[in-house]
Amino acid sequence: MSAGRIRILIVDDVAESRDNVEKLLRFEPDVEVVGKAERGQQGIDMAVDLTPDVVLMDINMPDMDGIEATMEITTRVPSTAVIMMSVQNEPDMLRRAMLAGAREFLSKPFSLDELIEAVRHVSKLARPVVQAQTQDHSEPGTAGPRRATGDTKIISVVSSKGGVGRSFVSVNLAVELRKMTQKEVILLDTSMHFGDIGVLMNSGDAKTIVDIVDQAHSLDAELMEDILFTHSSGVRVLLSPPTPQEAEIVTADHLRATLNVLTQMADYVIIDTRPGFDDLMLTVMDASERMLLLLSMEMTTIKDTTQFLEIASLLGYQSDRIRLVLNRMNTYSGIPTRDIAENLGREIEFQIPEDVQAVLHSVNEGTPLVESRTDHRITQEIRRLASSMIDVEAENAGPDGKASRGGLMSRLRTAFRSS
Ligand SMILES: Nc1ncnc2c1ncn2[C@@H]1O[C@H](COP(=O)(O)OP(=O)(O)O)[C@@H](O)[C@H]1O
Ligand SMILES: [Mg+2]
Repeated sequence: MSAGRIRILIVDDVAESRDNVEKLLRFEPDVEVVGKAERGQQGIDMAVDLTPDVVLMDINMPDMDGIEATMEITTRVPSTAVIMMSVQNEPDMLRRAMLAGAREFLSKPFSLDELIEAVRHVSKLARPVVQAQTQDHSEPGTAGPRRATGDTKIISVVSSKGGVGRSFVSVNLAVELRKMTQKEVILLDTSMHFGDIGVLMNSGDAKTIVDIVDQAHSLDAELMEDILFTHSSGVRVLLSPPTPQEAEIVTADHLRATLNVLTQMADYVIIDTRPGFDDLMLTVMDASERMLLLLSMEMTTIKDTTQFLEIASLLGYQSDRIRLVLNRMNTYSGIPTRDIAENLGREIEFQIPEDVQAVLHSVNEGTPLVESRTDHRITQEIRRLASSMIDVEAENAGPDGKASRGGLMSRLRTAFRSS
């Protein structure tokens, strides 16, 4: 990203769409629209000329479609990140866009928040390489940092869409695991732009993952100890950046280094995530022994969940690493759970009931529900979820279990070729 504002090129054949996107971005202080193209070829030429940080690319255009133009741009201007924009109901598009080199995918119509989050996210291209100081896992703990007592289980809470309850479930799962085991549980918030764990756990002004970036070259358990916030339950938390602007500086390398150190310190690492497949998400997925894929009883979420499962499979993640968790289970949505399971072709293992009032209360109080309402139906299901995590045999995921390193694109290409 250039030192100043994020420079954007819009490529869309419909004038109204181009103008709408430009209007949406007009009042954002950190972005600047540097060009607009109405044809694919023109988009490529302008991208070569202007080397924008981000290209917002429409898919359907008369001369050359956005997929082809994206392929060309990502090859000729590698410093540019392409965000694909497409109308919904194009189930294959996400995969095609990613194969072409797009870094993000926006379904039209999108909100300003979605647009700006995607733009800020992909624009962090200059990524400093950070290596964690590698330490011997089995080294006996000297005085100082608390250490894992056995194999570390890394469990991520993921979803194809925002707002399905990842943060709520992550917090309550972490606290419940701590209650049940009294082992070291660390909760990591990787929802970098709009992380909510701090609020859910009443962390006040604690340090965050940004403090790791500042000291990445000397990251070790001791330093991590100083950055983690300790919740009254004993769960320790690595919070996400305090502002979306600061989120930009956290890279996949930082995250890898962080996870390296956390596995020396914790028996369980629970990771809250944001939607979308990007470098950070892939880092999380690579590290996760289990991914709890949350969904709600809504047709759009169910459709997106199907896509998530497809992409995860293309990327080489074994399907049994992903477990389906239905959240906000209710009787009024009109879609029976068994229909959802059938639609997805997968078992839904956990069903967390909906209780708007109880959850709202716990969120606004900053007290996890599993602490304040130990007999609540939600608590009972979270307890069942936690028990299943305790029972998980430590799997030494082999080459098939953990997807190999390498960029999203190259992995998708490989997956695609071999399928
Ligand atoms: N089981 C539930 N019952 C009622 N409300 C819930 C439940 N789970 C989550 N919520 C509410 O849904 C909203 C989204 O939850 P959140 O954890 O922030 O989602 P995400 O992290 O996936 O974006 C919040 O307002 C939260 O209080
Ligand atoms: Mg969240």
